[in-house]
Amino acid sequence: MTIRPYEIEDAADCVEMANEDDTTGLTTVEDFLHRDKTRSKELFFQRFVVAEGGRTVGFASVFNGDWSASPDSYYTRALVRKSDRSRGYGRALADQVEAVLAERKAQEVRTFLKEHDERSVRFAERRGFAVEQRVTRSQIELEQFDPNEFAEWLGYADKAGVRIMTYAELAHDPDRARKAHAMHDAGMMDVPTGDAVAEVPFDRYKKTVLGSPHFDERTLFLAVDPDGDYVGYTQLWGSNLPAKMHTGLTAVARSHRGKGLAKALKVAALAHAKSIGIKIVDTENDETNARMLAVNWKLGFQAFETDLFMVKKGEI
Ligand SMILES: CC(C)(COP(=O)(O)OP(=O)(O)OC[C@H]1O[C@@H](n2cnc3c(N)ncnc32)[C@H](O)[C@@H]1OP(=O)(O)O)[C@@H](O)C(=O)NCCC(=O)NCCS
Repeated sequence: MTIRPYEIEDAADCVEMANEDDTTGLTTVEDFLHRDKTRSKELFFQRFVVAEGGRTVGFASVFNGDWSASPDSYYTRALVRKSDRSRGYGRALADQVEAVLAERKAQEVRTFLKEHDERSVRFAERRGFAVEQRVTRSQIELEQFDPNEFAEWLGYADKAGVRIMTYAELAHDPDRARKAHAMHDAGMMDVPTGDAVAEVPFDRYKKTVLGSPHFDERTLFLAVDPDGDYVGYTQLWGSNLPAKMHTGLTAVARSHRGKGLAKALKVAALAHAKSIGIKIVDTENDETNARMLAVNWKLGFQAFETDLFMVKKGEI
């Protein structure tokens, strides 16, 4: 076996392995390269591949999270092709990652896995990782969702004195990008996570959200107050599956919480998705995010799996 630095020609193999691991979505080489291209250059990032007889059988990345507040906090993810597991490739990749982390005197490293992938969870535990956060993944089949049953929820926007508008409908507002960014940033700070989250600078928001190949102006919904300020946000991302969308951030300004705005925003988003022929919308939420989960369960989302975020702290 050889372990060598990743090269752009390895992208297709990596994407194949990623899709094998997460069967609920579909990543493309274009997505993979876009994520690499828009990663902050000043943050640490390395990727290795492991090959056997000229065949790529696994890869691992080790990096600072773009979203992380601390430069000493690292993330890692290793994937080995399913047909090539239990042959020592994962161990070799993990050794390589640990050597990099030790050299950088990393104090904290996180990884994420599917709870049902018990072998991989045990592998991470043996290497010193412990579960820090559990994230529920759920989805709604829009054939079962009748927007008329939620007319009262849409009415919460009127009652709170706000209008729900899409980013496309706000094209007349010269500040729409900055205001959407401000609402996004404020919301992200309050999403429960293990790692401390940093503000996302406007330029990065423009590149990674507004500039994403999956961004659609008609599926970013904002709650607009009478002064034209944005006090609520929910987004549906396009996917590579024709009838599926993924929920991005949902957030309501602290001043406007508890008035039903998350409910109104999500009904508007799901009703639109259904009207354009989308069949499934999925989402993921920290298991402790009681407010968001309460809204999702009432809408009809059904849990289907759990992601584990695992952490190893101290000198690696
Ligand atoms: C989650 C969030 C969007 C909810 O916004 P909101 O406008 O306050 O939500 P709503 O008023 O529409 O509805 C909240 C629901 O949660 C329920 N709720 C509130 N606290 C709760 C708790 N501790 N346990 C269970 N349910 C709770 C409310 O009762 C309400 O449901 P009900 O009216 O049917 O009883 C908001 O708290 C937020 O911006 N959080 C930070 C960002 C975040 O975590 N987003 C989710 C991840 S993407």
